[in-house]
Amino acid sequence: MAPMTLHPDSLAVHAGRDDLAALGVHALPLDLSSANALPDVDLGGLSYEVLATGGHPFEGGSNVYARLWNPTVARFEEALARLEHSEEAVAFSSGMAAVTAALLTLAHEQGRRHVVAVRPLYGGTDHLLASGLLSVETTYCTIENGGADAVATAIRDDTALVVVESPANPSLELIDIRAVVAAAGDVPVLVDNTFATPVLQQPLDLGASLSLHSATKYLGGHGDVVGGVIACDARTAAALRRTRAITGALLHPLAAYLLHRGLATLPVRVRAQQENARAVARWLATRDDIARVHFPEFPECDPHGLIGTQQSGPGAMIAIELTGGYDAARALTSSVRLFTHAVSLGSVDSLIQHPASLTHRPVQADAKPSDALVRLSIGLEDPADLIADLEQALSQRTVDRAHADVAMS
Ligand SMILES: Cc1ncc(COP(=O)(O)O)c(C=O)c1O
Repeated sequence: MAPMTLHPDSLAVHAGRDDLAALGVHALPLDLSSANALPDVDLGGLSYEVLATGGHPFEGGSNVYARLWNPTVARFEEALARLEHSEEAVAFSSGMAAVTAALLTLAHEQGRRHVVAVRPLYGGTDHLLASGLLSVETTYCTIENGGADAVATAIRDDTALVVVESPANPSLELIDIRAVVAAAGDVPVLVDNTFATPVLQQPLDLGASLSLHSATKYLGGHGDVVGGVIACDARTAAALRRTRAITGALLHPLAAYLLHRGLATLPVRVRAQQENARAVARWLATRDDIARVHFPEFPECDPHGLIGTQQSGPGAMIAIELTGGYDAARALTSSVRLFTHAVSLGSVDSLIQHPASLTHRPVQADAKPSDALVRLSIGLEDPADLIADLEQALSQRTVDRAHADVAMS
């Protein structure tokens, strides 16, 4: 029987579960085996050979060892690949492990050691690229006026990969992925799709070669898993699995189980959180103690019309620049009561943090986000409660300042 063509919401619920009824189960099976029984030495050895070089298990063979293959992880990968419109996906122990594996694999496969990175990027990615730790040399560039000329200029004969994020962490800049792909020519483009999720954007449909997630964020959605995943073609996936088998940055099956369960509600969560973010962003835009609200749906944040053509909606992340600078940012993050003052994002509850001090702390000074910038990840609470919390936290600051002024006078 031909597989049914499903709409994205149905896929999110059913992908990676096609065989459950035949297995006689309803919930996802969780296989925690670190090692697997071997049929005999010959078949065991052959299984090892196939899996350690990035291949799939075969009938009558063995999964051998969890670093080579785990069925619970493979189910999550299959589901994510379907949502991302990719042939395959490969999961890792964290988003940074996924970035590391992509850099190691693409550089090794092509015998090239140069990377072009479009800023802004998540601070950890920026730091990894700048650190020289993986022996890759990085040329950073920024996109001016929507064009990707800077990418074309930065590409060299030994460029292995172009790395880009859209929307970018933390300032939510939208980068024209098609323009970057065109400028990159034959060089593969990796898009960090963590903020948009496959609900709003499918980078491979836009010409990118790899779509990466910190699965820790929206894919898990409940703030209780750390993981990473890359969606790509089957050949690259095999190379990434080989790297994973050699370096060992595998996703734990329990994390894969939680991530796969999270996918079922991903479209509903993203749409509801996005709706809440719209309400909060509009309210923030009315405040005179906020100099700028970065929210991809606002026309000034999307001068090239990428919402609706590249990404179907703005998502649920907001960044604000406070007129009171660092002191105001510090006061706001300390005064919230419903928001949690914490790094990370994409959870069902709302989070707030100061990127320059935390997520983007290791970024070189000239590329650091402004000290006045605060990042908000909007959750599933009633937006009226979120607005009330921000209002009390912002007025707290005003009261504190009024007290300080009285004390000074
Ligand atoms: C956009 C983006 N990419 C990658 C990462 C790294 O992921 P992880 O923290 O799961 O290693 C993060 C983490 O915040 C992120 O925000």
